[in-house]
Amino acid sequence: MGAPMTRIQTNSRVINWIEDRLPIFSFLNAHTGGYYAPKNFNLWYYFGSLALLVLVNQILTGIFLTMNYKPSAAEAFASVEYIMRDVEWGWLIRYMHSTGASLFFVVVYLHMFRGMMYGSYKKPRELVWILGMLIFLALMAEAFMGYVLPWGNMSFWGAKVIISLFGTIPWIGESLVEWIMGDYLPADATLNRFFALHVIALPLVLLFLVVLHLAALHEVGSNNPDGVEIKAKKGADGKPLDGIPFHPYYTVKDIFGTGFFLMIAAFIIFYAPTFGGWFLEHDNYIPANNLATPSHIKPVWYFTPFYAILRMVPSLFGTAIWGVLAMFGSIALLFFLPWIDAGKVKSVRYRGLGYKIALGLFAVSFIMLAAVGAGVVGELIPEWFGTHVDATAIENLFGRFWTIIYFGFFVFLWFYSRGMEKTKPVPERVTTHD
Ligand code: HEM
Repeated sequence: MGAPMTRIQTNSRVINWIEDRLPIFSFLNAHTGGYYAPKNFNLWYYFGSLALLVLVNQILTGIFLTMNYKPSAAEAFASVEYIMRDVEWGWLIRYMHSTGASLFFVVVYLHMFRGMMYGSYKKPRELVWILGMLIFLALMAEAFMGYVLPWGNMSFWGAKVIISLFGTIPWIGESLVEWIMGDYLPADATLNRFFALHVIALPLVLLFLVVLHLAALHEVGSNNPDGVEIKAKKGADGKPLDGIPFHPYYTVKDIFGTGFFLMIAAFIIFYAPTFGGWFLEHDNYIPANNLATPSHIKPVWYFTPFYAILRMVPSLFGTAIWGVLAMFGSIALLFFLPWIDAGKVKSVRYRGLGYKIALGLFAVSFIMLAAVGAGVVGELIPEWFGTHVDATAIENLFGRFWTIIYFGFFVFLWFYSRGMEKTKPVPERVTTHD
């Protein structure tokens, strides 16, 4: 990929014997020591390797959880309690997995935002971005199904609400809901199929997509905080002047990032595994009960921005499909970012002020919508303004405002990047700010 793969030089007869038959070491070398990455990577470039780390953590801890978990409506909840109380180190394995799920989204959201800041989705990296978005979809499906497995009350009601969304599709909706659940309510059949998908099907898809994501990235080469194509300026040796070998330079840098990240993860796992109900919700410590609806049905924090959009778009012509379309649309728009944004300058450093403000507002809208979706805004309004105000009306106003800002970002970008933008000159070589 990229540059032709060169054979590694070694005196080891064993390695040479393998290399003659399968050049695996040459391949690994081509993608580490032989891969030239821009020399100006900053903190934002930690999140790709951290996402890989969390993916490995989820798979390994998942394997051990599966050894004691029982995927049946009658036994699932108790089997998770058994893992927590009786299985040796079971509590640690479970907390590593549940904390890992939330940290996965923290890392992936920051990773995506980095791509937006530095225009990493632009030519020639459109496919890296598209594959990333497919990973994001698979990750959301994986997390949703994983959340159903402990068969707590929020697992049950969360599954019911989300699967019922498909019921808004005209004509086929209701049969589709039944088909997904395999029953009239989330039940044993639902749990069984979600288990199969969560434990084997989706992890395979994720792994496959991640391999393609990295293969596509290595084909075109990494972008960087200046958005300068380092391949455009090569030395006499054919190597990019602003490039350094990924190994050892970035392997060492990533080890530092990994150490820092593991300290934060360990702190959460050991001292605040539920994270105040944000990573493991209180209602999920109650077994699933189809007769007791939780007072506030809401998904885990990482879905709340999209859930808020769903709730904020009002029903029209007697159907709630508009909210569903808006929710899926808010994700679909990200897929098309490489074509919505026609700007030639990649990095936010050299883009117009309008883009800087719009991107900032987009990030704020995401956080505000997350707060609305999580019910935080609805709870704060009576606290701040007293109980005489109409909290729902204010919450709707607030949520709708940020929904418009979220979608407005894409509309603005379309027009702004097609003529209005005044960019700064992009340097010929990367800047290092040392
Ligand atoms: C399991 C999830 C993911 C893993 C393991 C992963 C892994 C990586 C790695 C290792 C890199 C190279 C290092 C770096 O640039 O940080 C990278 C680059 C990149 N990823 Fe991901 N990624 C994931 C999800 C995503 C998602 C959801 C998106 C966006 C939709 C995305 C978009 C990109 C882009 C655009 C680059 C190139 C960045 C640049 O060169 O500036 N990735 N990814």
